Amino acid sequence: MIRLGIIGLGYWGPNLLRCFEANRHCKVVVTCDRDTKRLEQIGAQFPTIRRTTESDEVLDSDVVDAVVIATPTRTHHRLATQALEAGLHVFVEKPLATSTEECRELIALADDRQRTLFVGHVFLHSTPVQALRELVASGELGDLYYIASKRLNLGPVRHDVNALWDLAPHDLSIMLDLIGHSPASVSCSGLAYLNPRVHDVCNLTLNFADQKMGIVHTSWLDPRKDRVMTVVGSKKMAVYNDLEPLEKIKVYDIGIDALPYPASYGEFQFSYRYGNTFSPRLNEAEPLMAECSDFIRCIRDGERPYTDGRNGMAVVEVLEAADKSLSLGGARVALADAVSRSGESPSKSTAPVASA
Ligand SMILES: NC(=O)c1ccc[n+]([C@@H]2O[C@H](COP(=O)([O-])OP(=O)(O)OC[C@H]3O[C@@H](n4cnc5c(N)ncnc54)[C@H](O)[C@@H]3O)[C@@H](O)[C@H]2O)c1
Repeated sequence: MIRLGIIGLGYWGPNLLRCFEANRHCKVVVTCDRDTKRLEQIGAQFPTIRRTTESDEVLDSDVVDAVVIATPTRTHHRLATQALEAGLHVFVEKPLATSTEECRELIALADDRQRTLFVGHVFLHSTPVQALRELVASGELGDLYYIASKRLNLGPVRHDVNALWDLAPHDLSIMLDLIGHSPASVSCSGLAYLNPRVHDVCNLTLNFADQKMGIVHTSWLDPRKDRVMTVVGSKKMAVYNDLEPLEKIKVYDIGIDALPYPASYGEFQFSYRYGNTFSPRLNEAEPLMAECSDFIRCIRDGERPYTDGRNGMAVVEVLEAADKSLSLGGARVALADAVSRSGESPSKSTAPVASA
């Protein structure tokens, strides 16, 4: 039985606590939050679990075998470092850390101590993303052209990170997974209305070396909640709407072909294809439950997680370059050291499969 500690019981931590409590291979033995009110609320629901305001009391291998970190992003590196140094397996919520350098340190430490470092890229454990992955890998969509996503809502407004760092990790983790490698460069524009130092609205473009493109629009200052990703291929197009209760993925057998051998540029002719639309059947596994099970399975089997430290770093690297672009008024910024899936250790696990 794996003994677990959970640090951070604000908005997201209690969801993790619920899922880990349902897993028969682990036991949450301690919860921690600086905020005593939050601890009391959790204590009312889970009275038998020990509670503390001091993370030092959790980050101890005599107390737990693994720790889940669901605190604000700026605290991830310090808490995860302390946990790994204490010999614990670590689950860190997205984004893994505030810089590529911090991520690199965590990866090196986890490798050195031979401990599981798992990043909360929850959508990579979801059945809709699994379906998109299959549509791309099977060639059903044809050559991938571009992926565009919107993640919008009214709030919650963050103080420590901008809308891009808060919201885009989900879209980026999915895009990088579908495209299979990091972009060569990014450009990002945005504006800060509510707090002059924190961008509320950000538009990010990812430029991939192979002519593919990613577009991510994030905002917590929008009247409507929107969670839509469009994947455009040469043969078909897919739309993933996470707010749809049933048909989250729709595949459109639709496209435009350039007719061969035009006499001149001006005479370029296009043929429009309008075919059927279908929605693949998805099982109803809860992504968060699948994610938490995968963390525990990786610890038990000694398997490297699909959403490991490198997976987390690939996302942070894009965010870091995007921040630089934001500060340069939207200029194109090259990624220093593109993190490619192909160069990774063969012991890493294959894409997670969520089952009902
Ligand atoms: N996977 C998802 O879909 C998802 C959704 C929301 C948030 N998140 C991530 O979860 C993390 C937390 O986000 P949130 O929305 O719950 O934030 P939050 O501000 O609501 O909660 C954070 C909690 O951590 C506590 N805390 C801060 N520093 C601490 C410390 N040093 N020791 C102990 N407790 C400490 C705070 O008191 C607070 O209760 C972030 O990394 C965020 O990106 C993930």
